Amino acid sequence: MPQSPPAKTMIVQSPAKLNIFLEVTGLRPDGYRELDTVMLRTQFCDQLSLQTLPDGMLRVQLTETTADSVRADFPLDSRNLILQAATALQLETGCRQGALITVHKVIPPQSGLGGGSSNAASTLLALNQLWQCQLPHDRLHRIAAQLGSDINFLLSGTRAAVCRGRGEIIQPFPICRTLFFVALRPPQGNRTSEIFHATSIPDAPRSSDEIVDVLTGKRSRPLERCCFNRLTEGAIHCNPEMARLLRQLELRLQRPALMSGSGSTCFVVARSFSDARHLKAVLRSLTGFPVWILRC
Ligand code: C5P
Repeated sequence: MPQSPPAKTMIVQSPAKLNIFLEVTGLRPDGYRELDTVMLRTQFCDQLSLQTLPDGMLRVQLTETTADSVRADFPLDSRNLILQAATALQLETGCRQGALITVHKVIPPQSGLGGGSSNAASTLLALNQLWQCQLPHDRLHRIAAQLGSDINFLLSGTRAAVCRGRGEIIQPFPICRTLFFVALRPPQGNRTSEIFHATSIPDAPRSSDEIVDVLTGKRSRPLERCCFNRLTEGAIHCNPEMARLLRQLELRLQRPALMSGSGSTCFVVARSFSDARHLKAVLRSLTGFPVWILRC
């Protein structure tokens, strides 16, 4: 009987993204919104452990130590973006290998931090290596764009980019310093499609040019004054608890409070790591919600 080759394994980090600027610039013929958004890759990561399986079999599971709060919103069937990404790679390459993917999940679903998209991007990159598909990056990007709007940014591995189109057209730019944000999420998450549909398209859209100039060091202005998210308008109607949280943060901290992506994660800009540590302690005791320092 022919023996299957020995299993190969790989462990990869799967980072969350943060939208520090997001404007809706139009409605596309395909029903999606045209975006002008600035995304940052954070160091807040899920961890994926991938092991090859024979016969094209694909399975995803969570580590035993993954928190129950995250577990409930993580489907283990074909709705899972990890399985969709692995299946798409098999179809694109004709690869007959399979994989068991074990996720240690810390990025909460429905939080606007792109956890699911990031898991899909990390899966594409890791399995392309593990299965020795050698698919070039442009073909991986084509698969990513078919699976979701945020995956291309996370696939690109870039630290910061302006993302246009549905979000899948990436223009990376250099950042001149390390950035710290303090983020927290109310118990109720947001559904992306619901938030997009509850947000109207502005007559005079804002541009990301100013925040990019500040991040690249071409212009000097406090970063928090340039952060913006159009989707907040829709999200505060859909998630009143999140709306209260944003107001509470602005009142208590006397600085702008923002939402990432379609929420429900809210964040403030910290001026340094020690400022971030101070804010984290204040926000934890004020709200009781999980609070993270996001380093970008
Ligand atoms: O692409 P993704 O699966 O992340 O999008 C989820 C939903 O968010 C879409 O089905 C769509 O309703 C909405 N969306 C949109 N315009 C975008 C991105 C997402 O309307 N640029």
